[in-house]
Amino acid sequence: MKKIIGLAAAGALLLGLAGCAGGGGSSEGGAKDPGDIIVGFSQVGAESGWRTANTKDIQSAFKDAGIELKFSDAQQKQENQIKAIRSYIQQGVDVIAFSPVVESGWDSVLKEAKDAGIPVVLTDRAVDSADESLYVSFLGSDFVEEGKKAGEWLTEEYKDSSDPVKIYQLEGTTGAAPAIDRAEGFADVIKADDKFEIVGSQTGDFTRAGGKQVTEAMLKSNPDVDVIYAHNDDMGLGAIEAIEAAGLKPGVDIKIITVDAVKDGMQALADGKINYIVECSPLLGSQLVDIVKSVVAGDDVEKRIITEETTFTQEEAVEALPDRKY
Ligand code: AHR
Repeated sequence: MKKIIGLAAAGALLLGLAGCAGGGGSSEGGAKDPGDIIVGFSQVGAESGWRTANTKDIQSAFKDAGIELKFSDAQQKQENQIKAIRSYIQQGVDVIAFSPVVESGWDSVLKEAKDAGIPVVLTDRAVDSADESLYVSFLGSDFVEEGKKAGEWLTEEYKDSSDPVKIYQLEGTTGAAPAIDRAEGFADVIKADDKFEIVGSQTGDFTRAGGKQVTEAMLKSNPDVDVIYAHNDDMGLGAIEAIEAAGLKPGVDIKIITVDAVKDGMQALADGKINYIVECSPLLGSQLVDIVKSVVAGDDVEKRIITEETTFTQEEAVEALPDRKY
């Protein structure tokens, strides 16, 4: 069970307040049997191993809880998510949950949900809305921290060298919270030492195919790159394919750092093709169920809930792999 760290302090917006602001809706009057609760969930897509694990975990958590989950896959398009949210509003679900594909552009549709009295829970990714009353809670990782952990490993790895270290960054989906924050956290740590230079940075859209394609081009434009920092395992796995196709050894000729720690990534780490992975847990289902139950009961919910995560070296990956669930 993931430990939940509630960051909401005294001043945090409580769910009860958000419920009032939204007009109450189905959470008014408190208790409802799980079998009477309906949740609309809009997923980003199926772009990565992480996403597949996240979808599976959420669907099975709601099934186990006996709560009806209406599920839609937005295929990484914001307009599809907005359509899905509007449809959930029309259907009058009790709670809407979604993982926003990008950070910006949600205010109108979130306002519509609020006006209809339907509480919204953000899972996995954040929105940049200035009005925090538009959602009741945000459950997910601290992506800035993940980027920092990647940078810290790199600085430690090269601490005894004064040679320049050329880094290429494989970014996640442009405008997505994990792409913005993982870049920020990483840059923040490596800027302390001039020898680290990000020589290029391009989106691979969090997909294996994207990571492969960008790396193929990178090997031509920047053949002397020392390190690839990929914002997720899938893009790192695509990079491995491109590096091997070019007759080079991933993990040796070019070091690779990734984020996620899904099974395929952990296997590549255990095989020495990836050098370090920062964990991002997709197992948000049971926490989301708990939030939904509290919201419907009219109980207080913490505004920000951060999942606790770790990091993996090669030895740690070898040890963890047999029990890895996803
Ligand atoms: O939002 C979480 C990120 O989205 C994961 O790191 C990535 O694999 C996914 O596509």
